Amino acid sequence: MAPVMLRRVLIYSLLRFWRLRLSAPNKSFDPKQVSALNADSVDAMVAGALSAFSAAIDLNSLKVARLEHFGDRSPIALANREIGALPPAAKAEVGKRIGEAKARIKDVLELREIELTQIRDNEVLLSEKVDVSVPVDRMKRGARHPLTTLMERLSDVFIAMGYEIAEGPELELEWANFDALNFPKDHPARLMQDTFFVESPDSGVVLRTHTSPIQVRAMLERELPIYVVAPGRVFRTDELDATHTPVFHQIEGLAVDRGLTMADLRGTLNHLAHVMFGAEIDIRWRPSFFPFTEPSAEVDLRCFVCLGGSDTTECRACGGEGWIEWGGCGMVNPKVLQAVGIDPLVYSGFAFGMGIERTLMFRSGVADMRDMVEGDIRFTAAFGMEA
Ligand code: PHE
Repeated sequence: MAPVMLRRVLIYSLLRFWRLRLSAPNKSFDPKQVSALNADSVDAMVAGALSAFSAAIDLNSLKVARLEHFGDRSPIALANREIGALPPAAKAEVGKRIGEAKARIKDVLELREIELTQIRDNEVLLSEKVDVSVPVDRMKRGARHPLTTLMERLSDVFIAMGYEIAEGPELELEWANFDALNFPKDHPARLMQDTFFVESPDSGVVLRTHTSPIQVRAMLERELPIYVVAPGRVFRTDELDATHTPVFHQIEGLAVDRGLTMADLRGTLNHLAHVMFGAEIDIRWRPSFFPFTEPSAEVDLRCFVCLGGSDTTECRACGGEGWIEWGGCGMVNPKVLQAVGIDPLVYSGFAFGMGIERTLMFRSGVADMRDMVEGDIRFTAAFGMEA
């Protein structure tokens, strides 16, 4: 190729490159050359955009259509960029044309967006709809066991009098369950038929046979004076029948103070009976024996059915007695006070222990103790949901 030709081709390519890349002012403007800016092309861009928008069936496809027809690289955006390259005379006309086209595309895009958003929202509302009229299986409300609520009620009577709740382990030292309570080594209650021993009879540990070891613990752990009640589970090797269960509950009471007498004990238990069962339910004492109280008494409640009246012999609740056995009580044996380091010449105490199952049978007319331990929800539910 001749050098002259080569130079021309080079210059020509450079010029083309210059014009295309930099869109330098086009002095010799010929609208036909910039065909992208003529009315037909712009109309076609608008029409293309509008039909793409109305064809978009959801917000996602509208987004795709927007990028294609109104994004930075869309025909209308590219055309817009060409305006800068036009001579001033043409800029106004073409600028107006492109501006109107852009506004139109934008308006239609926004309208379509509102439409599709509404359609989307309606679909969401429909798909998340909850039919509140559909019948459901309601969750059954549970009911606390009447023994639990009764123990709390009994405790509350004492808390109102200033007592505190005391606790002890169910797996108890034989020493606390028996020795410290002044049970002789050969006391029949220690034998296998009454007491659940653990591992071996000489392990020194038993399932507590009553709540009285909590008396021992309370006196060892607390400052004087002591006023405590201790509701709890106890264990004896009884067969389960209508009136016995190997696992049952007691509430223990203990007061140790200066100058306490049996009159205080009597007044306390009278108060408990009246609060729990009503003013007409008296108590009576029968002389009894417990190694850890002296003197000791059995506590009976006036029969709630016959009230000990004239037709007492007919009464099935008390078997004609007029009274129902409730628990044991007495003045804390000075030997027990001594065993835990309390001076019996300065302090005296009273103690009592009531069967909770008996109290529930009495209070709510439960005839068979097995109902209380078998866990049948129909029994518990009948007592309702007591707080
Ligand atoms: N702990 C005795 C029992 O289980 C009851 C009792 C408690 C007696 C407190 C006197 C004092 O039978």
